[in-house]
Amino acid sequence: MDLGLQGKVAVIMGGTSGVGLKTAEMFLAEGAKVAICGRSAERMESAQTQLLSFGEKADIFASICDVTSKSDVDSFINGTAESFGGIDILVNAAGKSVMGHFFDITDEQWEEQIQLKFFAIIYAVRASHPHLVKRGGGRIININATLAKEPERHMVATAAARAGLLNLSKTLSQELAFDNILVNSVSLGLIRTEQWERRRLKNAPDMDPEEYYGDLAKKRNIPLGRVGEAEEVASVIVFLASDKASYVAGSTIETAGAIGKAL
Ligand SMILES: NC(=O)c1ccc[n+]([C@@H]2O[C@H](COP(=O)([O-])OP(=O)(O)OC[C@H]3O[C@@H](n4cnc5c(N)ncnc54)[C@H](OP(=O)(O)O)[C@@H]3O)[C@@H](O)[C@H]2O)c1
Repeated sequence: MDLGLQGKVAVIMGGTSGVGLKTAEMFLAEGAKVAICGRSAERMESAQTQLLSFGEKADIFASICDVTSKSDVDSFINGTAESFGGIDILVNAAGKSVMGHFFDITDEQWEEQIQLKFFAIIYAVRASHPHLVKRGGGRIININATLAKEPERHMVATAAARAGLLNLSKTLSQELAFDNILVNSVSLGLIRTEQWERRRLKNAPDMDPEEYYGDLAKKRNIPLGRVGEAEEVASVIVFLASDKASYVAGSTIETAGAIGKAL
């Protein structure tokens, strides 16, 4: 199936690991050009090496950028447009969650979640908007979490910020539809990425990884009976960016193995 992504330019905020990196691989495999960013130079280098198995060096733009810094985001996005001659797709995949109940979470942690889940998206949308308009339209895909609709007490700050982002994404989908920019969200449950690997190595370093993720799926009552894989999320993102999703806007696709009961 031709997804119509040949020659398109996809910017992935946080594309050096996990879901973002898998998405970059898939875009390259579909003939698109990709830009990735992150804060760690080490992760950036290893991501670039990994991406070379999926596409040409000339089709990969990688730059250190903290998504919570407006000036970093401006220069990363403008640098991508300059290198590739434009931008067609923006994927907001950077970030991390914070675990803790209401009385455990510090002001700094609240601030960080709000920076990551609001301002990072605001900066990236503002910076990419003129470039998407120049192309006659485009796609914006915001990664979200099932927590946005089903808060959990031990994830209070992340859940509250996620709910706000879901609301913001809906408004953006209506505002930007006038520019032929289709905005959608992908809502994740538990996906096996470096984020979860860090938790596994901290909490159960000696446990067999398959057993750890099997137990996690049981504990969290995931109806599909397993934790998801980053490439299962990347496929949804690539679909939303493709010609095949030309009338999908303002939607949220749950990619969570049927976890949760929110409608
Ligand atoms: N995995 C899950 O189960 C799950 C569930 C719900 C939602 N999510 C969300 O899905 C998104 C992707 O997560 P993942 O699981 O793929 O995690 P991951 O493997 O840890 O990847 C996160 C990526 O974001 C980058 N990043 C983090 N903070 C950044 C910052 N301030 N500036 C620039 N880049 C930054 C990281 O690079 P650097 O650290 O080098 O900056 C990395 O490239 C996140 O928003 C996460 O909250 C994940």
